[in-house]
Amino acid sequence: MALLIKGGTIVTSSEEFRGDILVRGEKIAAVGSGLDWKEEQTIDAAGKYVFPGGIDGHTHFGLSIRGARTASFDTTPAAVSGGTTTIIDFVPQPKGMSLLDASIKHRSEMVEGVSAADFGLHAMVMDAQPGIYDELPALVEAGIPTIKLLMAYKGTPFYSDDATIFKMLEATKKVGMLTMLHAENGDIIDVLEKRLISEGNTDPKYHAESRPPAAEIEATFRAVMLAQAADAPVFVVHVSCADAMAAVRDARGRGIAAFGETCPPYLTLDVGYLTKSHFEGAKYVCSPPLREKQNQQPLWQALQNGWLQTVGTDHCGLNFKGQKDMGRGDFTKIPSGFPGVENRLALLYSYGVRTGKLSLQRMVDVFATVPAKLFGLYRRKGSVTVGKDAGLVISDPDYRGKISAKTSLHGVDYNAYENFDQIGRVDKVFLRGKLSVHGGKFTGCLGQGRYMERETYTTAYTGGAKKRLHR
Ligand code: URP
Ligand code: ZN
Ligand code: ZN
Repeated sequence: MALLIKGGTIVTSSEEFRGDILVRGEKIAAVGSGLDWKEEQTIDAAGKYVFPGGIDGHTHFGLSIRGARTASFDTTPAAVSGGTTTIIDFVPQPKGMSLLDASIKHRSEMVEGVSAADFGLHAMVMDAQPGIYDELPALVEAGIPTIKLLMAYKGTPFYSDDATIFKMLEATKKVGMLTMLHAENGDIIDVLEKRLISEGNTDPKYHAESRPPAAEIEATFRAVMLAQAADAPVFVVHVSCADAMAAVRDARGRGIAAFGETCPPYLTLDVGYLTKSHFEGAKYVCSPPLREKQNQQPLWQALQNGWLQTVGTDHCGLNFKGQKDMGRGDFTKIPSGFPGVENRLALLYSYGVRTGKLSLQRMVDVFATVPAKLFGLYRRKGSVTVGKDAGLVISDPDYRGKISAKTSLHGVDYNAYENFDQIGRVDKVFLRGKLSVHGGKFTGCLGQGRYMERETYTTAYTGGAKKRLHR
């Protein structure tokens, strides 16, 4: 089966040109102009953009957090309909279970046969048994070259101390893995949460007061210094404010392999949303919290200038009714995080590209290309290049509309961007050559997503030959 996408404006992280794409089976077979295979199925993409399928390197499907469970993988059509053909989901580590067993369980019980998007998995330390460092080679062999630790959530299994993080950085370096850190100072937050609650300050807005920018900035500095001490690369997830971004940027300027992600909420929403009446501020509780508006411009600038490398969503499908509202009377009981996997491209385009803050090429870079490189998928994904998977997004720049929960597929009773103006819309999506969105509507099926074995950071980022591990 072959397919010709004709006359679209193809956008990669380095170019923008009018051209044609020939897809044979699951792969891109040719890219050029005037391609003519008359017998094939032809799609007219004139007047439309063609982007590589997005890679969202930060999702939490089916995650248990503060007594709630996020929407599961049967809601991944939301990702595909938003132009994201690959997700990389964090695997919670049950107590007493190895990281590898946790990932096998997560994959077989939750993802395989369900996900509509191709998927990879990140390991996530929640039980720092002595054996976790020794099992890294097995994780690499299983195609899991990334591991996350959290400096926040003290007193819960999510929390890791500096010794654990430092040892993990040293261990990951030996096998070429990339350590990802949630950088917020757990001690500061623990003290402030307890104090605010004891003083009767229980509303959602106090969630942000308990997690001030200084708690994130300090932890981000610590993260990059731990990486320097271990001489290992580090990736700071969900950077929310200007000074934390500067900590990552400046560390790289000093020669530390420090990279960072920001997320659409920090680019488009601000702390004021936490004060919404009728407890609706709880809808906007995430960690790190939304910040003062003046942080948005530096974060856009960081994406444009390459100071931050990727935009992930930190997608958590949590309902307002029955989940977020469990925190009435105590903000510490509001499950943290909110959905966004469906809206990443629309927000980057509408509020980044169309306002002149982000070039189209940079948008593609942070949306697809750099996530593919940093997370070990670039051999297959992240660019409109011959030989890569035909994960392709045809986007209509003339569309004007509004974001709404009513039209969202994320399986949640609200959308944090409700009523936001949207410019441009995903018209068609191909997942490895298979039409999965047509006319803006999801036409794929659950289970079409395939597990993606990923390569190590060292291999993927340098483009070298596949690393052989000597055990
Ligand atoms: O608030 C958030 N981000 N919840 C999800 C867990 C995490 O910290 O990434
Ligand atoms: Zn986090
Ligand atoms: Zn997260």
